Amino acid sequence: MKEEIVTIEKVLYGGDGLARLSSGKVVFVPYTLPQERVKIAVMEEYRDYAVGHPLEIIEPSPERIPPPCRYYGVCGGCQFQHMPYERELEIKEAILKELFQRQGFKGELPLKGVIPSPKLYHYRNRLRLHVENHILKMGFVKRGTHEVLKIEKCLLGDELLNEVLKALYENPSWINIAFYAKRLRLELSPLDKKVCIVFWTTLPPDKRDIKELLKIPSVKSIFYFTRGARPKGPYPEDAPYSGRKLFHAILGLIYYLQPGIFNQTNWEINLEIMKKVLELAYGAERVLDLHSGMGNFLFPLVKELSEAKEFLGVDTDLRAIEDGIFTAEKNNLNGRLELRKMSALEALYEAFQEGKTYDLVLLDPPRGGCKELMRLLPEVASHKIIYISCDPPTLIRDILLLEKGGFELKDLYLFDMFPRTYHFEVLSLLQRRG
Ligand SMILES: C[S@@+](CC[C@H](N)C(=O)[O-])C[C@H]1O[C@@H](n2cnc3c(N)ncnc32)[C@H](O)[C@@H]1O
Repeated sequence: MKEEIVTIEKVLYGGDGLARLSSGKVVFVPYTLPQERVKIAVMEEYRDYAVGHPLEIIEPSPERIPPPCRYYGVCGGCQFQHMPYERELEIKEAILKELFQRQGFKGELPLKGVIPSPKLYHYRNRLRLHVENHILKMGFVKRGTHEVLKIEKCLLGDELLNEVLKALYENPSWINIAFYAKRLRLELSPLDKKVCIVFWTTLPPDKRDIKELLKIPSVKSIFYFTRGARPKGPYPEDAPYSGRKLFHAILGLIYYLQPGIFNQTNWEINLEIMKKVLELAYGAERVLDLHSGMGNFLFPLVKELSEAKEFLGVDTDLRAIEDGIFTAEKNNLNGRLELRKMSALEALYEAFQEGKTYDLVLLDPPRGGCKELMRLLPEVASHKIIYISCDPPTLIRDILLLEKGGFELKDLYLFDMFPRTYHFEVLSLLQRRG
């Protein structure tokens, strides 16, 4: 295998350092910092670029620090544990600016803030692990492979999730169940400091094993999927709030969430995003949330914007809508908002056909963005759009389309939802021109 010594120029989206081989070809080298001299093995070489593996950091950056996690470098989860947090934030900001520039954004970028995560480690309120049953391995995929890396403790996960993970490795009933299990999610219920277990299995478990698992002190409820979109559970059958997780939101709101569906991973940062959405939403009278989930960003607006006339949230996940309706009842807000199971495109089309407009539209799509909405959206969004995204490249693509549709990017915020990884969340405010 070819070896070379290269100098890292910068860190890219994805977390790799960029350098050049002696031939001038670009090479991507993970776990490096700008200006470092690194001896690499050239693992793969293509026409336009190569992939390098760092063999030795010959001239380390003065900023380099030892990564605290024993799996770092093998696990595919983290990319930035070898640098101080301030550096990680600077790198993320530079990456965001460069992505905008490379994708063709013209003019001054209205980046108004970079909001750090209050917690650097143990911020994740859920862990999703693959299960390999013959030798009971639970873990994440190894970097650059499809192989599962056995994980006994994840430093990004809340301490309580790690306690339950440890208990599962030692629990004979879980060893029985895990023989048929494929995936496992450990999800924190922060308000009562408990953990919910959700697993995917090919064969239903023996109920005696489930009973035994419920004896693990911090376990609150158990659900399992065999097939279909709805799991069996909760266990115990009389679990409070049907086994839902409980979260404090802003303005005294309490959220009730079924395990196994989407919720924001880093709750402290989620609260910061909620506050920003509320600040930017003041004055709105008719609000449409096109990827509402259970209403995470909608509820504070419903509670605070007492003059507003209409709140509609839509999502394709029926269980998220159920949680929203349940949460509205518990917080005495039913009647103030409408939550419907439908796709964002259907909701836009319906509004368009009825000639309805909304002065604030919220978007928070999955990673792929929402290009399919960009033609109808300018017909329905009369004033402001708040677009939240965990995938900057698709966000920027969609912002450029909205600019063509008559909107202007006014504010941009980087919220560091995922410290120690290359991922981050971006909130953008767009306003109709003129
Ligand atoms: C990133 S999550 C955000 C959810 C919510 N805003 C929150 O903060 O919890 C994206 C949401 O989009 C929903 N979704 C995916 N495709 C959709 C579509 N075509 N139309 C509407 N919602 C969709 C998912 O079910 C998921 O709840």
